[in-house]
Amino acid sequence: MNKVDVVLGSFYGDEGKGKIIDYLSQNADISVRCTGGNNAGHSIEIDGKKFAFHLIPSGILNKNTLAVIGNGVVIDPRVLIEEIENLKANGYSTENLRISDRAHVIFPYHIEMDKLQEELRKEDKIGTTARGIGPVYCDKFERCGIRIGDLVNKKFEKQLRKNIENKNKIFEIYGHNQVNASDIIIKYNEYAEILKPYVADTVTLLHNAIQENKKILCEGAQATLLDIDFGSYPYVTSSNPTVGGVCTGTGIGAKYIGEVYGVLKAYSSRVGEGPYLTEQKNEIGDTIRELGHEYGTTTKRPRRCGWLDLVALKYASMVNGLTGLAINHVDTIGKLDKIKLCVGYKKDGKVSMNFSTDAEYLADCEPVYEEFEGNFGDISNIKNREDLPENAKKYLNRIEEIVNVPIKFIGTGAGRDAMIIC
Ligand code: IMP
Repeated sequence: MNKVDVVLGSFYGDEGKGKIIDYLSQNADISVRCTGGNNAGHSIEIDGKKFAFHLIPSGILNKNTLAVIGNGVVIDPRVLIEEIENLKANGYSTENLRISDRAHVIFPYHIEMDKLQEELRKEDKIGTTARGIGPVYCDKFERCGIRIGDLVNKKFEKQLRKNIENKNKIFEIYGHNQVNASDIIIKYNEYAEILKPYVADTVTLLHNAIQENKKILCEGAQATLLDIDFGSYPYVTSSNPTVGGVCTGTGIGAKYIGEVYGVLKAYSSRVGEGPYLTEQKNEIGDTIRELGHEYGTTTKRPRRCGWLDLVALKYASMVNGLTGLAINHVDTIGKLDKIKLCVGYKKDGKVSMNFSTDAEYLADCEPVYEEFEGNFGDISNIKNREDLPENAKKYLNRIEEIVNVPIKFIGTGAGRDAMIIC
């Protein structure tokens, strides 16, 4: 049976999914985004031009790949149109773009609400990307959301006015500026005209493609530990970036899911608040941040950095049913003299592989590390795993051994081709 492959983030996002997606989508007929919105972002450099993708699957760069934005995605039309225009300005066609009629639309009041809620959380803030993601998913689940189909068919004005009336009551309580419905309606009608040609019933489209044996690649956004159900709640995003989100965010049935690749870095990083056991709030963390250029693509925020946590990775493997690992930045970690790998959590004197997303549980845990030799040297031109330096092999073998999932891709440098395919 034709199977759909999936690429997911294993930790807190920013694992470098773009590079693996870029490689796999070269052989894909269809590349699909399933969840999240423009809180995500990765950039791809081709012929010296850098493309930042927040919503459009990067498969669009391949002429023959259909790029689909699934129903589980939330769309800020302003950002999407910017992305479309940027591609066109650089000579890329966007004719291959399809947007689900069921994807929900982000309006300016979602963004305002996101910012206001963060302000109100004070010291308990989540550290959201302030792109309106939480509030738009709230509307979706409250069943007052506006979908792309409603937008392009100009059937959104009544619901929008009602929503804005309700949101303005909340804004008034907190002394926040009122939102003007008429301005938004004018603007969004313009957006509707631009987006209309791309809108489709992507559920049927994907189903037909599977029957026609087309190769489909699902591009995960965000990551496992940011999942609303399986992540470190409440320090999570408002969607399911785990494997389940692929089904609900596209309409692809579970029996069609094939390879599920978990992407990770040879170290770890996180943006925003929340527990992070292997974080190095010291010179090591700073060094990793500089060596790995760990600053947000979307928000430019410096990322928190630390050692790779195999307890968390085993958990990611469990909830996603990972069939393969893609480890990026092996070259980066190899620039250190000594590398640590978290192989267990010590709690009440006992060491286990029991992961928890509960901040209180984690506060009592101590990471147990194994130490490895670094100094891998320049590995960017190596194409076979066997040719890697012994120190790199030992590190990678141990990861594979503990997590019990084969490594399929090894990132060896910043370039698009700096990768070992196992
Ligand atoms: P939101 O998705 O903007 O609501 O943010 C919720 C949390 O998820 C915050 O900690 C964000 O920093 C984090 N987050 C959301 N999207 C990404 C991403 O693509 N990469 C890394 N962190 C993200």
